[in-house]
Amino acid sequence: MDIFRIEGPVQFSGSVSINGSKNASLPIMAAAILAAGKSVIKAVPHLSDISVFSRLLGRLGCKVTRSRNGDLCIDSTVVDNPIGEYEIVRRMRASICILGPLLARCGRAEVSMPGGCAIGDRPVDIHLRGLRELGAKIHLKNGYIVAEAPHGLTGKDIFMGGPFGSTVLGTANVLMAATLAKGKTIIESAACEPEVADLANCLNKMGAKITGIGSPRLTIEGVRQLQPAEHQVIPDRIEAGTFMAAAAITASELRIQNCRFDDMMAVVDRLRNIGVTVDAANNGCVVTRSGSIKPADITTQPYPGFPTDLQAQFMTLLSLAEGNSVVIEKVFPDRFMHVAELNRMAANLRKEGPTVIVAGVKKLIAAPVMASDLRASAALVLAGLAAEGTTTIQRVYHIDRGYEKIEERLNPLGAKITRQSI
Ligand code: EPU
Repeated sequence: MDIFRIEGPVQFSGSVSINGSKNASLPIMAAAILAAGKSVIKAVPHLSDISVFSRLLGRLGCKVTRSRNGDLCIDSTVVDNPIGEYEIVRRMRASICILGPLLARCGRAEVSMPGGCAIGDRPVDIHLRGLRELGAKIHLKNGYIVAEAPHGLTGKDIFMGGPFGSTVLGTANVLMAATLAKGKTIIESAACEPEVADLANCLNKMGAKITGIGSPRLTIEGVRQLQPAEHQVIPDRIEAGTFMAAAAITASELRIQNCRFDDMMAVVDRLRNIGVTVDAANNGCVVTRSGSIKPADITTQPYPGFPTDLQAQFMTLLSLAEGNSVVIEKVFPDRFMHVAELNRMAANLRKEGPTVIVAGVKKLIAAPVMASDLRASAALVLAGLAAEGTTTIQRVYHIDRGYEKIEERLNPLGAKITRQSI
């Protein structure tokens, strides 16, 4: 198992280029199931989550390879084992997004029911409701979701809102299934995240007929079949936001390249509120902090609100503000595993239900800490960059799920991070 040793405090300079989006890549990889043949996906990051998903597709019958130029090729000519096994699904909940495509292609799917995880319960009831509306018969057997539609799916008007708003992978699942359903489907209260829009654009390249992309109302005219396509995934807005927060916490100037600025407005708004200068630049932006960190309130929401996937990183930043901030988590109300670890580094955070009161401190102090999930571990890396002394982070594999060799990306900018196998 690897650990990080991070020496702080440091200051950054230079530029960093953002990789392709993990959360856009995964459902787009699942979409390859829908069209027999060879799909090519460009800019898929080299992450452990992508390897796990590739293995999952392999078990279904697909052949997944990386070409020399880094493109991910998925040959889905054969999909003869429509089963998402517990052994893989328990490692990565995003595996659930094979359910819709398998059902549409094979008329049947069995996918292990995902359990809870470090960020909360994470039910899939809305996914199943949507697929049932399309005519699937679904029951639970030995911990597996068994979905059947031997005579195909039929389009319908479906409302997909839930207690915490829209669902990203739920929308992806039903959207993919609806592309091959008979007739028209309308998904109302669809997730508007750029990753869902990227999936819809890819599906249209494959021959689907989807309109309303990027809005909460998606209209899908079912087609008889889809063809494999070539698609480049969008840059990772969460990686971009993490690097922006890193520039801010280290009082640096950092150029962020390959970043879709328009997708980042809620993040840019909070950074400016905190006293950070963010200027749009060619193909990205420049983030600069020269003054103190001002307190700010942050409420996470589905897109275009502030992303839950950046809540932990921004809490680290606000822990050094001159005053008190309030962070409210409205997407995953239990997503606060980082709070206790940041307090071990001398932050002053108090959790009250889905809210954390962040009392700004003058400095963070290095400590041994434990990564608990992907974004919480990114928050600890940021804390380590700003804290006095050497922070050690255990369970670095959580970071590797979503950030490609983060130490090799940050060290050229000025970070002092070493990875050790223990
Ligand atoms: N929800 C339900 N029922 C459902 C589905 C969701 O109640 O059937 C609830 C969830 O419990 C949560 C809210 O709805 O409270 C939103 O969850 P959503 O379904 O949108 O999350 P997801 O699709 O499972 C994706 C990302 C997450 C990201 C969330 C929210 C991928 C692979 N995962 O998860 O990313 O936090 O959307 O934006 O796209 C990460 O990258 O670290 C990560 C966790």
